[in-house]
Amino acid sequence: MCQRLFAESEAASLLTQFPTSEIEALRRPEVSHATLSSLRHPELVKSFLQSSPDWNTVYDWFTSEEFVADVLTTFRSQIKAKYPPIIRTLFSKWIMNPSRYYGEVQFSLRLTGSVLSPHTDNADKVLALIVYFPDVGETSTGGGTSFYLPRSKRSEFAVFNRYKRFGWLIPLGLRRLQSAKLPTVDSFNASQEVGEHLKFFDRHYRRAFDAPYQLGAAGGFIKNQYSWHDLRLDDVAPGMIRSSLLVNVFLRPSRARALVNRIFTRR
Ligand SMILES: [Fe+2]
Repeated sequence: MCQRLFAESEAASLLTQFPTSEIEALRRPEVSHATLSSLRHPELVKSFLQSSPDWNTVYDWFTSEEFVADVLTTFRSQIKAKYPPIIRTLFSKWIMNPSRYYGEVQFSLRLTGSVLSPHTDNADKVLALIVYFPDVGETSTGGGTSFYLPRSKRSEFAVFNRYKRFGWLIPLGLRRLQSAKLPTVDSFNASQEVGEHLKFFDRHYRRAFDAPYQLGAAGGFIKNQYSWHDLRLDDVAPGMIRSSLLVNVFLRPSRARALVNRIFTRR
């Protein structure tokens, strides 16, 4: 959690240049959110960055090798904790090798009524950082990502058993390990459509804290099996447009795993 990742003037200038129209052009009218991603829309991102030197600087930093190396150094113990003790001891160098990781940025818009159901994020994700860009006067308590803790050990199992996704892996880490995720829908009244699942989740998990939805503030985490978070824009002011920058650091799939992934997605 960081109240001020960007200085006030810097954040204000980034806000005025936020690519709202570029993201809106990608959003289908019936869908309550859209993102412009450096991985999925490299050409669009490139042409946007040419028009915005400030965002270009931010982009260059978050996708640089230095940033990835910095993340690995800063969160060394949390990243290593994801591996079994024996692996973590024997393969420490390999785990922490920066060339195994890469960064992505996504410009995101979410509108009132949108719900991103609780989930722990993809297993290939190492760092998730969300930087907020509310419009002037739009800072509110709803809008920041919410983070959750289980009410009990039994609660944790109940949710995991209901929502685990089969993406097994393990032998040699060949397949992408997926994580637990509640059903989510893209509509404008998502909380009604997936309400039963949200209720089940809320019975077992309690909201631990919300990231501050303030200009230039950020919330983030190192992904693990406990990193439950969500975003519910069902009770925010009508007409809200939630703008944020998502910064992700991913583990690069090995060549063998990339091949296996391709075979499985082709099916
Ligand atoms: Fe997420």
